[in-house]
Amino acid sequence: MTNPPRQIAFIGAGNMTQSIIGGMVKNGYSASAIYASNPSAGKLELLQSRWQVNISHDNNEVANAADTIVLAVKPQLMAEVCRDLHKQVTNLNDKLIITIAAGIRLETYADYLGRQARVVRVMPNTPSLVGKGMSGLLANANVSITDQDFVTTIFQQVGETLWVSNEEQLDIFTAIAGSGPAYFFEFMASLQQAAVALGFNPEHARRIVEQTALGAATMAIDSDLELTELRQQVTSKGGSTAKAIEVYQASDLAQISAKAVAAAVHRNQEMAKLF
Ligand SMILES: NC(=O)c1ccc[n+]([C@@H]2O[C@H](COP(=O)([O-])OP(=O)(O)OC[C@H]3O[C@@H](n4cnc5c(N)ncnc54)[C@H](OP(=O)(O)O)[C@@H]3O)[C@@H](O)[C@H]2O)c1
Repeated sequence: MTNPPRQIAFIGAGNMTQSIIGGMVKNGYSASAIYASNPSAGKLELLQSRWQVNISHDNNEVANAADTIVLAVKPQLMAEVCRDLHKQVTNLNDKLIITIAAGIRLETYADYLGRQARVVRVMPNTPSLVGKGMSGLLANANVSITDQDFVTTIFQQVGETLWVSNEEQLDIFTAIAGSGPAYFFEFMASLQQAAVALGFNPEHARRIVEQTALGAATMAIDSDLELTELRQQVTSKGGSTAKAIEVYQASDLAQISAKAVAAAVHRNQEMAKLF
């Protein structure tokens, strides 16, 4: 983390903010350099009691105290929150703005905050809530490399990060990483159902599937081999796995995934038009 730490304010103290702040403080970020604002009291009190960060009900107060502002409210509230900050916060253009709201393009923030605003869009995914996230990051032209490095460090507190170069790539990233946990849950549930249909009780079936998914993901992360090679390594010729893989390939799993991802990308593009 930077030394001295940047003063960073989170606007909205919901699930994502709770996870990011938790990750930051656990990894040594100074709690006195962290601020959070939220309308209701409970979430702020939780943040203060767990991590001793500075809290307020006033967005403008925490934004004025900070040099980096993380916008972590629901997308439909973003226009109002930004316009208020634009009016009330002094030297807003000197501050780095990080937004985690889904579906709002960088260009739209130029409307909300002015063309000089330094804005980074971050698309974290739900596993960030358990420190295993995958975040896509996109900066506008006003953001420096030093700022980008800082944003990378913040989101590494809740998982892995990847910079993309345009909004189209972020839509694709979102269709894979943002929606991806749902695809894996769907597949895992189908395997659980198969095990139950063949006689396992649901609890045991779930444990088998969960641990197998975790083991496969860990092997993939630890290995330099291509995913297809890893798959081949557990598929002996003429064996039972080969028979199962033949069934998946007959249904063209790759084609199904391509169609599913294309549908999600299309929907991301449609939703961006709402803002
Ligand atoms: N959770 C995820 O996995 C995930 C993944 C990717 C992106 N995101 C994005 O991250 C953002 C936050 O998500 P979340 O899951 O943390 O949502 P959340 O738990 O609903 O948190 C949003 C927070 O914003 C607060 N809020 C409402 N109006 C506000 C205002 N005017 N000023 C300041 N704070 C205000 C809410 O407070 P009250 O409860 O008191 O109303 C709530 O605590 C969203 O834009 C979402 O699209 C989330």
